[in-house]
Amino acid sequence: MEEAIETLPQHTCSWLKNRFTLYKHEDVWNSKDFLEGKLLAQQRFKADPSDIFLCSFPKTGTTWLKALVFAIITREKFNESTSPLLNTLPHDCILFLEKDLEKIEENRKNSFFPPINTHIHYHSLPKSIITSNCKIVYIYRNMKDVLVSYYHFARQIVKLQIEDAPFEEAFDEFCKGILNFGPYWDHILGYWKASLEKPEIFLFMKYEDMKKYPTTNVKKLAEFIGHPFTIEEEKAGVIENIIKLCSFENLSNLEVNKSGNHQAGKTQVIENRLFFRKAEDEEWKNYFTEEMIEKIDKLIDEKLGATGLVL
Ligand code: A3P
Repeated sequence: MEEAIETLPQHTCSWLKNRFTLYKHEDVWNSKDFLEGKLLAQQRFKADPSDIFLCSFPKTGTTWLKALVFAIITREKFNESTSPLLNTLPHDCILFLEKDLEKIEENRKNSFFPPINTHIHYHSLPKSIITSNCKIVYIYRNMKDVLVSYYHFARQIVKLQIEDAPFEEAFDEFCKGILNFGPYWDHILGYWKASLEKPEIFLFMKYEDMKKYPTTNVKKLAEFIGHPFTIEEEKAGVIENIIKLCSFENLSNLEVNKSGNHQAGKTQVIENRLFFRKAEDEEWKNYFTEEMIEKIDKLIDEKLGATGLVL
């Protein structure tokens, strides 16, 4: 597999001081480990119709969505003082198709089918996910904030200070779609188009709306994944407790998320704290010049205008 990957078009990111290489496969740019994970999943993964997928582009709120889903599906076993989320990174509570295939397969041998997370584009998903009509929760976020979030995440992964990682170059590459799992707009478009054909198996969740209306969104999420709240639970404040447990303020201040590490693949270890940065809306305003705003707004309009999704 490694040899085949080396024959693909490659791009080494100069804004990351050439410490990060991407490979283009099925019109998507990927780091080698994610691409290997995708190819392996395409070869081996067999979906069950009861599977639920949490699909996201990196930096759109994946960690938060995973925490919420985990808290929702385990609420009968744990509460906000006993939840494994208090001492486990959400990425280790809900597994990642591209990174954790063996553990996922182990679960299935034991007839255990918890929701699975993936960053894979819709057109590259293992075919059985599509043919089994598995339910898909899709989270998306303002494109400019995704870019800023990705900028910091990527530069910190390769251990670069802000002054050594020119934002303008990261911006240019993002607008060309060159970033891990890029282009972002194609990721959204793939899921959005599929949702037009089978609306009943999709739930689209917007990061900013989840923040604005957490109760409504968490209720909707719980219903969609087959774990609706009872009236008694609602009255007892279970929804609010889950929202609090999974809030940025709470998760980012837990010891595990401040000082722990995440094995993100065979060789890569990521500090947990990198998944919790600021979680602010419109932080992009501190980074974009007028010219950048004009360019990216045009791009958003061209690529996603027809979807009616407001980014
Ligand atoms: P910022 O970099 O803008 O702070 P992902 O989980 O897809 O990698 O996305 C990471 C982004 O989600 C980061 O955004 C991170 O701070 C934010 N985030 C992490 N946990 C969150 C939570 N519980 N609630 C809201 N946002 C969260």
